[in-house]
Amino acid sequence: MQIEQAIQNLPNKGFLDIPIDKNINLIDEINRLRKEKNVVILAHYYQVPEIQDIADFVGDSLALAQAAAKTDADMILFAGVHFMAETAKILNPDKKVLLPDLLAGCSLAESAPREKFEEFKKKHPNHLVVSYVNTSADIKALTDIVCTSSNAEKIIASIPKDQPIIFAPDKNLGAYLNKKTGRNMVLWDGACEVHEEFSVDKIMELKKEYPEAKIIAHPESRESVLNIADYIGSTSGLLNYVKTNDAPAFIIATEAGILHKMKQEAPDKILIPAPPLTDDTSCACAECPYMKRNTLEKIYLALKYELPEVQVEEELRKKALIPIQRMLELS
Ligand code: 13P
Ligand code: SF4
Repeated sequence: MQIEQAIQNLPNKGFLDIPIDKNINLIDEINRLRKEKNVVILAHYYQVPEIQDIADFVGDSLALAQAAAKTDADMILFAGVHFMAETAKILNPDKKVLLPDLLAGCSLAESAPREKFEEFKKKHPNHLVVSYVNTSADIKALTDIVCTSSNAEKIIASIPKDQPIIFAPDKNLGAYLNKKTGRNMVLWDGACEVHEEFSVDKIMELKKEYPEAKIIAHPESRESVLNIADYIGSTSGLLNYVKTNDAPAFIIATEAGILHKMKQEAPDKILIPAPPLTDDTSCACAECPYMKRNTLEKIYLALKYELPEVQVEEELRKKALIPIQRMLELS
């Protein structure tokens, strides 16, 4: 009865709201279930540390899509946000893809609804569409090539210079890419609500405190933040920079979840999260509310009941698969 009620409530709640026996060891149970059901747990760098620590694989959007494309597990549990799990499902139609909380969305993906995007495309005939992976399957189905922040420059460089391009949905990443590649891509007006929030003034205050620190930023950040950055890159790019650069300290303008891996892989470095404009966070750092919807409890329930599951209608899936495959071939 409890499970039936919880399934009924799933669309509103996003997750299975079922009380968990306090006497069980959550991590032992997760490990038992994943083994029993041959599940691979894929986690993004923005997940909370305890989730990253139990994952089979932790990575950026591209590495996670690549891991999903080649897994031989029977089931995928995606500790990330909806578009990531949806991409995994598009690549694995015959596997169950579990997302611990269906309401783990993304402000960028939500900024581009299908009908408005169709109109936008009509206004720009003869344009090729390059979409950031942070989009719904609907938008991917209207896209020629998908990209992530790790491979965007390479993907754009593969397109003839005289071919006009629409870039969607992130205007900050798009503007950064226009600058880097000398293109004049038409940009969709979307933004990541987390990366838009970094404060240049607060970063510069920190820089006064740590003059030897390098400022590093994700390209979803605003131009004013990117202009003061010593290095700009995807989450894996930022991690690699911290590991390999000689500087003793780094001010990091991306979601604070990445600091967990950075601490593990560069334990001697001073890592300072860049603060957002509005200081209502307890950590004085930027946290993605969607990524942070996932918890160990929700992962346990998802593994136990094999819900919530991400579904993609077959005709849509086939269309959305083409630009994802193009990206994987070019990466
Ligand atoms: P990457 O991990 O690809 O850099 O993307 C960051 C992000 O915002 C994911 O939503
Ligand atoms: Fe989306 Fe931004 Fe959250 Fe990434 S950090 S999932 S782009 S809202």
